Amino acid sequence: LPPLRLGIAGLGTVGTGVIRLLRTHMALLQSRTGRQIEVIAVSARNRTRDRGIDLSALQWYDNPIALAAAPDIDVVVELMGGADGAARALVEAALKAGKAVVTANKALVARHAQTLARLSHKHDAPLLFEAAVAGGIPAIKMVREGVAPDALTRLGGILNGTSNFILTEMAETGRAFDDVLKEAQEKGYAEADPSADIDGWDAAHKLSILTAIAFRPILFDSLAVSGMRRITTSDIHQARKLGYAIKMLGVARRLADDRVEAWVQPCLIPAQSGLAQVNGVYNALTTEGPFSGPITISGQGAGEGPTANAVMADIIDLARGHALPLWGRMAEQAPIACEPIEGLP
Ligand code: HSE
Repeated sequence: LPPLRLGIAGLGTVGTGVIRLLRTHMALLQSRTGRQIEVIAVSARNRTRDRGIDLSALQWYDNPIALAAAPDIDVVVELMGGADGAARALVEAALKAGKAVVTANKALVARHAQTLARLSHKHDAPLLFEAAVAGGIPAIKMVREGVAPDALTRLGGILNGTSNFILTEMAETGRAFDDVLKEAQEKGYAEADPSADIDGWDAAHKLSILTAIAFRPILFDSLAVSGMRRITTSDIHQARKLGYAIKMLGVARRLADDRVEAWVQPCLIPAQSGLAQVNGVYNALTTEGPFSGPITISGQGAGEGPTANAVMADIIDLARGHALPLWGRMAEQAPIACEPIEGLP
């Protein structure tokens, strides 16, 4: 088979991680896919920043959208972020050009699912986004493949690494919120605008994507979202005295008549429960269905290595030629509003 040639847009934590992973595991990836996978082009805002990797042999595009039109690129890897603007323009242009797209952009996928699904269908261009949900955990693969035979009734868990890292540090060391947030930013866990992590929107994007795959598409703005800004170290310690931990959870339930309830909010959960032991930057996803029963997977939900691994998992599927069409009914089925949740502010 000919080599699979990638063009990467965005060289932040994840973009450089993907190049590093490819270079470290070149032979391994070739033996697993039967073909060579190579990055041939990159695009990023800052050309001179030292990223600790040698980019001299790669084509450099100042304008990312040019990657969509480059005839020698098979797969556009979008790692710029942002629901609109350049990231959206690039993904749409690449799909229209019939190129496969791999993205870690949860805001883009959550907010424009139907438009992207239609483009992907129309142009027969796969759009894969394993890295958009829960970093290193194969969350999308679990929902669309692992429990595909079952009609899930519930899914969710800890879907944001930064907020879980902050809650854990506040609980264990009593460190101040701002200090821990700064560390999460330095470690490359947090979003460019960390309010997405703290206020629950990042977890909501991921929950919306999982809900669309497992149940049906929902209108993103109808999700009930409540963040963690008001939680103090004292709240966490009081909860602990009563036998509870405070965790930011995102949960979706399938109701009768194909309706959906979905929310993201801080919750009190029993300190002895499995979820309460998921600490630091770790995420956990649980699914429940009448046949499959409860299944939980857990792992690092943010950061360079795990997220790069998830991006590569999609690229491996493309290299092997069996990337599943992800969208199914998403292109045809109009998104619905979630049911209101009683008791949320
Ligand atoms: N900012 C996100 C998080 C990155 O902390 O979970 C992974 O999606």
